[in-house]
Amino acid sequence: MVHMNQGQGETSYARNSAFQSAQQNRMKLLIEAAIIDLGSNTNTLLPQKVVIADLGCSTGPNALALVSIAIKAIQSYCLQLQQPSPELLVFLNDLPDNDFNMVVKSLVTLRQSKKPLVMIGVTPGSFYERLFTSSSLHLVCSSSSLQWLSKAPEVLARNHIPAYDIDEKARRERLPIVLQAYAEQFRKDFTHFLELRAKELAPGGQMVVSIIGRRFDGIASFHIWEIITQVLSVMASEGVIDKEKFNSFYMPMYGPSNEELKEIIHEEGSFSIREMLVHDFTGGINKELITPAWTANQLRAVFEQILVQHFGDLMDDFVKTSERCWSVEGRLHDELARLAMLTVSVSKA
Ligand SMILES: C[S@@+](CC[C@H](N)C(=O)[O-])C[C@H]1O[C@@H](n2cnc3c(N)ncnc32)[C@H](O)[C@@H]1O
Repeated sequence: MVHMNQGQGETSYARNSAFQSAQQNRMKLLIEAAIIDLGSNTNTLLPQKVVIADLGCSTGPNALALVSIAIKAIQSYCLQLQQPSPELLVFLNDLPDNDFNMVVKSLVTLRQSKKPLVMIGVTPGSFYERLFTSSSLHLVCSSSSLQWLSKAPEVLARNHIPAYDIDEKARRERLPIVLQAYAEQFRKDFTHFLELRAKELAPGGQMVVSIIGRRFDGIASFHIWEIITQVLSVMASEGVIDKEKFNSFYMPMYGPSNEELKEIIHEEGSFSIREMLVHDFTGGINKELITPAWTANQLRAVFEQILVQHFGDLMDDFVKTSERCWSVEGRLHDELARLAMLTVSVSKA
């Protein structure tokens, strides 16, 4: 079970999610355009009740950011076209271990306005399963979540192929097999995600999702989780973590390229692409902030649970080793530059 670091402490996701927050800001225009499209299905009139879901909402300020953008977009759409505000039903989804207590406490901010009327529910569960009744949703949003797979590809563990060989030559030789296995798992998962949402969205329904992916296509390209496994491999070669444990660690995560996403959406066939954007992973963040120590804490908030589940308590060593690896001039910048924030806006065909 994946979850981001809970609460509001120093290592919490609430205080260490700046990359994701910057990405949510960049989704604003696409969400606003999706609301306009929703109205255009019915001669500019929005449905009397609009149902919105954020999938993989997590905790902290980011949990309400996308739905707040959508609510404001609906308010200004109705004001501009002088039509009555619809009633809004908002669902926040994440895996059951997410810190929903904190999410629920912060919900009061969404309900402060009387117009439109906003009702809110939480929907714990995996977005790789059905979460909502058929044709019940009008807008689905999701930010920085769909790079998480339903599971790591089993074929690698079955054949004792480590995701990241400590030995560089072996790693290069096996890279195509590893990447292929992850790409196939992502294709399966994302196709399934599209099929499920196609059932849950009403005709003309809209979806705006962002995924942490990679800048370049191709087999020699970078895996999103390499930024973590490179540090772990240093820890394994220095004896801080067990080599066997390292070799059996598979992160259930895959960063697709823009082209891959496009191809899967076309092949699945339920949605037409309205817009696709590719942004720098570090875009929208003050570059002076992005130091090795700061970045290590941002990653810790996301990966601590999954690393501790597999390796035991290694986080202080992980942060120290990350800082040491990334303090080599230009290295951190080069690694982050290989990631990309992919955003796609689609309408149900
Ligand atoms: C990096 S956080 C992004 C959170 C938030 N949307 C943001 O932009 O800051 C990814 C979230 O996706 C959730 N997640 C991962 N796999 C999921 C799944 N199968 N179903 C629902 N949520 C999932 C994680 O628990 C986590 O809270």
